[in-house]
Amino acid sequence: MFSRSNLLCQKLLMRSSTRNFSFKQLKDVKPIIIRNLAWFSRHTAKENFGTKLKRRLRNLLIVTVVGCGTYYGYRANRNYKWFKDMTDSDNSIGTKPRVVILGTGWGAVPFLKHIDSDKYEVVCVSPRNYFLMTPLLPSVSVGTVETRTVIESIRSLVGPKVKYVEAQCVNVNPKEKLITCNSDGTDVVSRGDDVKAIYVPSKREGGASSRIIKDSARTRPQFDMKYDILIVAIGSENNTFNIPGVEEHAHFLKEILDARRIRSAISDAFESAMTPSQTPEERKRLLHFVVVGGGPTGVEFAAELSDLVREDLHHFYPRLVANDVKITLIEALDHVLSMMDKEISDFTEKHFHRENIEVLMNTFVKAIKQHEVVIQAKGSNEQQSIPCSVVVWATGIKPRRLTNRIREIIGLNTQSNRMGILTDQHLRVKGVHDGSLFAIGDCATIEQPKLVDRIQLLFEEADTQHRGALDLQQFRTLVEKKTHEFPQLEIFSARIEKIFAEADEDKLGFLTLTTLHSALEKADTKLRALPATAQVASQEGRYLADLLNELPDLNIENYQKHDIKPFRYKHMGSLAYVGGDSAVVDFTGARPILDIFRLKPLSGRGAAYLWKSFYFTEMFTGRTKTLLAFDWVRTQLYGRDISRY
Ligand code: NAI
Repeated sequence: MFSRSNLLCQKLLMRSSTRNFSFKQLKDVKPIIIRNLAWFSRHTAKENFGTKLKRRLRNLLIVTVVGCGTYYGYRANRNYKWFKDMTDSDNSIGTKPRVVILGTGWGAVPFLKHIDSDKYEVVCVSPRNYFLMTPLLPSVSVGTVETRTVIESIRSLVGPKVKYVEAQCVNVNPKEKLITCNSDGTDVVSRGDDVKAIYVPSKREGGASSRIIKDSARTRPQFDMKYDILIVAIGSENNTFNIPGVEEHAHFLKEILDARRIRSAISDAFESAMTPSQTPEERKRLLHFVVVGGGPTGVEFAAELSDLVREDLHHFYPRLVANDVKITLIEALDHVLSMMDKEISDFTEKHFHRENIEVLMNTFVKAIKQHEVVIQAKGSNEQQSIPCSVVVWATGIKPRRLTNRIREIIGLNTQSNRMGILTDQHLRVKGVHDGSLFAIGDCATIEQPKLVDRIQLLFEEADTQHRGALDLQQFRTLVEKKTHEFPQLEIFSARIEKIFAEADEDKLGFLTLTTLHSALEKADTKLRALPATAQVASQEGRYLADLLNELPDLNIENYQKHDIKPFRYKHMGSLAYVGGDSAVVDFTGARPILDIFRLKPLSGRGAAYLWKSFYFTEMFTGRTKTLLAFDWVRTQLYGRDISRY
């Protein structure tokens, strides 16, 4: 073999050394190359079985040794790099500005993945040491997707350069730039051990543990931590609207523990209904599942539950499914998925009707008791009781205690928005003048500047000839120049002439301060706070990482002077799974690319494939992507696991 290869090499070298390596010469070399390549795959003409086996085993051994060696080398190199980065980042404590981020959710993770850890010492503080893929929680609550698929450890997600501390921030001191953290907080976030720690024996709780163990060995003293930049990304919590009985008797669907409890409660209800001594009324009550709230959470959960009943439970409990199972969705407004296009709401309601999900619209839940839900129809004074067992509460969100505490510390005059921490367009918290405090995600609300509040300045700036009037060209320049600062002007950009003509009622050919006011007022009515969605939070996290990476100096206060762009949200559409292999997709307001195509709302099976591919690509790591694919295949082939543990 060597002699052949050497010969070939020599020939090639000789030819290439002549420099003028022509196409014709290449033709001469071709048969030699083919002959030499053929040598690798040639077999001895008459090979007996033993020789053949020996050759194959030898090849297998070579491939295994080389493969294992490469993999081992890669692992060793990766571990070494991890260790080195960790040591480097430990050694650099105090040498770089410290950026502390509170939270490990949709806002925090994109930030942590993109922040330049060579420029900053990055510390993440959160009581939850994993990222949770919240949109798949309804699937977890019925077993379509397993628990471990939707969580990813924060340490493995963000790497060795970010320091993670499992603790709960309880106080922020913006003057001293100090946070106080408590690791033994009473606010429980779903860590695995909390299942034991907060276990309260109850008829609802699943599992068959012989005893309850308290985590007594844990000692984590309270601590203070200094920061140069603090980012609050602590999300939100469920809003019960102080309705009696919700905290005690209803399930939420916000954390992984909630999904596990619901899964167990569904199984519990079916097994209880199978008890021989059960009365028919009690069986019906046990198998009545009530979902409160027709937003995306409530709709997706009702849809997944209906899939579970139709596709799996129907095999194991055929009589119960045929006679006793009932799913009811209660919504206070006159349609479900009210934030989406009307076409989508109508489709969902009809689809739910086909799937045997009863939808009670214009109905408020007034109280929840252990065995019933008290409802009241809009415009009626009468209350009605619905006997049921499992109630899932999905009526929206409210700020966490720390969010309100931060607003109080800064001053409620400045922090006047009750829904969250008010920030400017660069996500800096209002009322903290040194620019050291940012807030992103569900816990924050961006202040939207109104055009009419600045009308005098805008008018003077646009009236370049000081005539006290704006012609069409000046109006156009004003809109184009200010759209970045006032995004509500975007609706004008495509039809400036029409807006101008409408405002210029007297056909003067120019706009006065008064007529400009009426035009800008229309744009202001289009102002909406950004929705509390994963999409908004992750774009904010990414924006903030880029902003801090590019910021030349942390002391810069006037961002506009340094041409630092404000945050602009790009809506890419809304999705929701509605069961029976159908989903709905709403592109309304999606921009900028999707808007060009003027895509209509989608519903049905095609939308379900879009829904699946979207969440598949959104999974943060290869591990969770693989697990998700396996879970979907497993559910299709073998059904959902209905055991209770
Ligand atoms: P939501 O605020 O979107 O919907 C809650 C619904 O509950 C409302 O329609 C409200 O009218 C109703 N409601 C309130 N009180 C009630 C009562 N006492 N009785 C009956 N009905 C009552 O809440 P959701 O679904 O928890 O979502 C929270 C946030 O997360 C939203 O911003 C949502 O857009 C987002 N999200 C988006 C998803 C998606 O795009 N696929 C999935 C899950 C959440």
